[in-house]
Amino acid sequence: MNKLSIRDLELKGQRVFVRVDFNVPTSGGKVGDDTRVRETLPTLRLAAERGARLVLASHLGRPKGKVDPKYSLAPVAARLQELLGGKTVAFAADCIGPEAEAKSKALRDGEVLLLENVRYHPEEEANDAEFSRKLAALCDGLFVCDAFGSAHRAHASVVGITKFVRQAAAGLLMEKELAYLGKAISHPDRPFVSVLGGAKVSDKIEVVQNLMKLADAMLIGGAMAYTFLKSQGLPIGTSLVENDKLDLARDLLAEAERRKFRLLLPVDHVLAGSIDSTVTRTTDIAQTPEGWMGLDIGPKTIEQFSREISAARTIVWNGPLGMFEKPAFAQGTLAIARAVAAASGKGATSIVGGGDSVAAVEQSGLACQISHISTGGGASLEFLAGEKLPGVEALTNRS
Ligand code: 3PG
Repeated sequence: MNKLSIRDLELKGQRVFVRVDFNVPTSGGKVGDDTRVRETLPTLRLAAERGARLVLASHLGRPKGKVDPKYSLAPVAARLQELLGGKTVAFAADCIGPEAEAKSKALRDGEVLLLENVRYHPEEEANDAEFSRKLAALCDGLFVCDAFGSAHRAHASVVGITKFVRQAAAGLLMEKELAYLGKAISHPDRPFVSVLGGAKVSDKIEVVQNLMKLADAMLIGGAMAYTFLKSQGLPIGTSLVENDKLDLARDLLAEAERRKFRLLLPVDHVLAGSIDSTVTRTTDIAQTPEGWMGLDIGPKTIEQFSREISAARTIVWNGPLGMFEKPAFAQGTLAIARAVAAASGKGATSIVGGGDSVAAVEQSGLACQISHISTGGGASLEFLAGEKLPGVEALTNRS
């Protein structure tokens, strides 16, 4: 990467503004899944060991520019303190203003301050220059972005602030994310197989288009597959479909055909009368009965997809293959998780991104066998779509 790294900075005795993505689930003052917090620990430990004075900032949820205790980062400060082995994590109840200024100035080498949710201010999402300047005033000209999950947002604490500091560098998590995802889309070990699922084609159009140019095969499951299947005139019963995207799906399939690209759709599926029903049946797609909806890929599809995955040297997976939250429709997604884990065991590089597929991999108990689990949902999709992430672009180039 041609961007400055935290390793390049002179940190000793300096206040460093670190943008992290602590957008984690909280309830009753407790943090649920703390993966995103744990993933920043290498950066925080490195900075603290080198004597930095750390001012951390993040958003949490979408409070729409207003103070809303539901979206407070205070529970995250408590969790971070535990994860840092009891090292005190100070907390400022606003990300700008006298308290934040005083607490940032009181930091000593290796100490940590977490600021309250930057999205309590509408200026954050507006990338307001004055707000960015106030955030930058809390550090000594050094900014580190470790918030890969927010790098697709051109917001004040991600992008605007970089104009008001001397050096803007990538943190270790940011570097790791860019290294894995960057290799996959620039010089992957082949065969490179992409697996896409989830509800909507419309969320993944650019990803499908871009990966069709880069990968050797694409396996599509989940509800998004039905828009493709219907566009080919196949029966889909009452399965979820985006009728306004049928032409687009047809065009994408024609494009795959033209490129002689291996785009595989489900050949069979598990059906039910509704998402709440546990009475299921399994049919080939062509035999889909009226009034039934597809909620998981079937055994023939699992076998075919698993075979492709098993031969792959690089696998990028985003989106579940069925409604895995319900045990009756989880088998397809779990089988794919097993196939991806087995391929990793044979030396393939596997990358899983997107909240739902990550949750599925965690549920399968195989997360530790995946090469890289991305902390970015939207950010990893935009990256795979070939787009430049503003939060990465804004970092200082290595001279
Ligand atoms: C995410 O969870 O994808 C990031 O934290 C970004 O959150 P946002 O979609 O609310 O900007």
